[in-house]
Amino acid sequence: MNKSDENSKLPIIIDCDPGQDDALMLFLALNAPELDVLGVVACGGNVPLARTELNCRILVEMAGRVDVPVFAGCEGPMVEQLFTAEYLHGETGIDGIDFFEPSLPKNEKHGVDFIIETLRSAENEEITLVPTGPLTNIAMAMRKAPEIIPKIKQIVLMGGACFEGGNVTPSAEFNIYVDPHAADVVMRCGRPIVMFGLDVTHQVMTDPKIVADIRALGNKVAHASAGMLDFFGQYDAAKYSEQGGPLHDPCTIAWLLEPEMFVLKHCHVTIETSSKLTRGHTAVDFWGVTGNQPNVAWAHKVDRARFFALLTQRLAQY
Ligand code: BDR
Ligand code: CA
Repeated sequence: MNKSDENSKLPIIIDCDPGQDDALMLFLALNAPELDVLGVVACGGNVPLARTELNCRILVEMAGRVDVPVFAGCEGPMVEQLFTAEYLHGETGIDGIDFFEPSLPKNEKHGVDFIIETLRSAENEEITLVPTGPLTNIAMAMRKAPEIIPKIKQIVLMGGACFEGGNVTPSAEFNIYVDPHAADVVMRCGRPIVMFGLDVTHQVMTDPKIVADIRALGNKVAHASAGMLDFFGQYDAAKYSEQGGPLHDPCTIAWLLEPEMFVLKHCHVTIETSSKLTRGHTAVDFWGVTGNQPNVAWAHKVDRARFFALLTQRLAQY
């Protein structure tokens, strides 16, 4: 690839907590010729940090991208205790794959410092952040070095819920519930935010045919993906009375690759941080009743067939 091709790629930093759906998000990002993945930062979320960091190294190595550095970020939320989701993702977070010890070594640099240093050396509005776990690392970077905020082009994140209600409490989605204070910092940062909450991620439920098609691709990454989707689907299929589970996190990368498949609306979004009953609730002003200036492009519709076609095509390329 020559220099001009390199320059036309969108530089992104991924911050995630794998998580089977984070894993699929990583696979979609790591072989996308449109994207330049500068690094992957792990946060405590679906499972504790020691495990999400290890999972990131396993997944990056599986994708053949040992050139992409992986960093451990914060162990837990800014204020609250860490709440994990082994009940959904299994003890490892990525149950369903054949495990191996990655050859990629652990990185000594803290993930928050990696984010800060990368943004510091970038141009204004250059870097896209893609968080698909609790927003702790992103908010900590903003708090530690507020001068990096103008370097952010956009934040494309998975989190929140409006019309769908919550998946961890009646009113909160997991990523926002785990660290509502971090989400509050991010919502107020003033940079463009594109948000994929449950309203849209519940429109991309897997089913047995999709998983079979992915398995039939025959390569290692597709095999691992199908194994994870089998595992991930069990719990969610029972919960949502569907045939599979929602592929939350890959919506972020799918939008970067093919934005036309989503419908978004500019809305003002506020995070509930203090109520015991509704902690982590995303108050999405979908109908503009507050008169507050929109701070988020809220995704609310997706073309499901196109989403799974993209995912399958890209996994076929491994
Ligand atoms: C989000 O929570 C996690 O369980 C998933 O990885 C996703 O990021 C969905 O609420
Ligand atoms: Ca996640």
